[in-house]
Amino acid sequence: MSLTRPALGLAVLTLALPLLAACGEDEPKLVIYNAQHEQLLDEIVPAFEEETGIEVELRNAKDLELSNQLVQEGDASDADVFLTENSPAMSQVEQAGLFAELPAEVLDVIPEMYRPASGLWTGFVARSTVLVYNTGLIEESELPASILELAEPEWAGRLSFSPTGADFQAIVAAVLELEGEEATRAWLEGIKENGTVYDGNNVVLESVNSGESEVGIVYHYYWERDREEGGDVHGDSAQYYFADQDPGAFVSVSGAGILESSDMKDEAEEFMEFLVGEEGQQIIADSYALEYPLNPDITLEQGVKPFSELEPPAVNVSDLDAEAVVDLMTEVGFL
Ligand SMILES: [Fe+2]
Repeated sequence: MSLTRPALGLAVLTLALPLLAACGEDEPKLVIYNAQHEQLLDEIVPAFEEETGIEVELRNAKDLELSNQLVQEGDASDADVFLTENSPAMSQVEQAGLFAELPAEVLDVIPEMYRPASGLWTGFVARSTVLVYNTGLIEESELPASILELAEPEWAGRLSFSPTGADFQAIVAAVLELEGEEATRAWLEGIKENGTVYDGNNVVLESVNSGESEVGIVYHYYWERDREEGGDVHGDSAQYYFADQDPGAFVSVSGAGILESSDMKDEAEEFMEFLVGEEGQQIIADSYALEYPLNPDITLEQGVKPFSELEPPAVNVSDLDAEAVVDLMTEVGFL
């Protein structure tokens, strides 16, 4: 279009725009139910759209909100792809029989321990459990070897965490899978007794950094992002990574899968290939997120502890049970 187009032409164009937009809305879009952080998808999706010409519509909500919605909608769901922050919500949808098998091009990229043997979904990014501690109040040498010790009486009044979020609930799912129901209930009762409950992991960081709590259970990226962004909730605290396959060294994966009911499976597969492929994973590695890419060819740098140095317990991602965790946490009085 020429810049010197007369005013009448512009008026016609202005009138025509709503019609064009209406036509655009009729084009089928790849619908992604997204519970990963919106900000991360806002980096991945435009690159995917540009490369493939496939338009994406994101519908954002929390892990269990979307998994419950998918189970309710069943075959009638608009969703083509489901992305979560943590994997228990993926297992819920898998158990409901709603996922299509992923192509080998997707599965072969991701190490086996970060996806279920069923091939019905895969992890695409990972986050490590950590203990954030106030460096003025406690020495690293005084921190417990196991996250399970935080339930002991000596930790009374010294701990904080955010039990309502999918992040903490994934950690509980790992404890449940590794230690069994009785030990997990006892652990939850102990940390409930000892801890202060906050709504949100950033509030946990604040409480530790200010010295209200000595230690807090979070994932690594909260503190790392604050450090990277020069924020004000990391300067008086540091991160402690549990080791030796302790339940506290649990690495949680964000999951991705294609709905069997999708009428855009080819496009959904293209999205999945992009997400786990080098380009998508490099976008994740370079992004604000500071989460670990799961494609072994791509490395997160940006000053974060290397993924290869983590010592996570072997957890079968298919066995992380969202419903059992919600039941147990309700019973103990967290939810
Ligand atoms: Fe999170």
